[in-house]
Amino acid sequence: MKKIALTVIFAGATLMAADGAALFAKCAGCHGQKAEKKALGKSNVIAGKKADVILKDLQGYKAGTLNRHGMGGVMKGQTAALSDDDMKALADYISKLGGAKKAEAAKPAEATKATKPAEDNGTKPAKSDDSKPAK
Ligand code: HEC
Repeated sequence: MKKIALTVIFAGATLMAADGAALFAKCAGCHGQKAEKKALGKSNVIAGKKADVILKDLQGYKAGTLNRHGMGGVMKGQTAALSDDDMKALADYISKLGGAKKAEAAKPAEATKATKPAEDNGTKPAKSDDSKPAK
């Protein structure tokens, strides 16, 4: 219990220190913009994983002790330059990316919305255009 509470406090405190979204930019190439992909076709999808699980994974990769799919070396390189704060910010950010499916489900609804009628020229006198000399 103590451990969980501490993790939550740390995650909150470091939100300000490191920007997870900015840090994730370099991860997105393999893991996807929303962490929705299997990196290099190997890793698990990490979007929406619990922050403390992601953090542990990242620390494991950095330490060189984690090699879940035989490609731990790739992630060792990715995490080498990350500070603890960076990894916490990343873990927090990725854990909140679980909405990939929801976002997709929401899109069709928006797409079917009737398009707004184009500007109604009948009611608007074209004042501004009149004052400009034509080319
Ligand atoms: C060059 C491609 C690449 C980049 C960039 C990359 N990763 Fe990975 N990632 C992988 C691969 C491959 C694995 C699987 C490693 C293994 O064998 O354990 C992986 C695994 C992971 C896992 C564990 C997922 C699992 O399978 O359980 C996490 C968490 C993770 N990466 C986070 C990140 C973060 C955060 C970044 C950015 C700092 C990042 N990755 C950048 C390729 C990449």
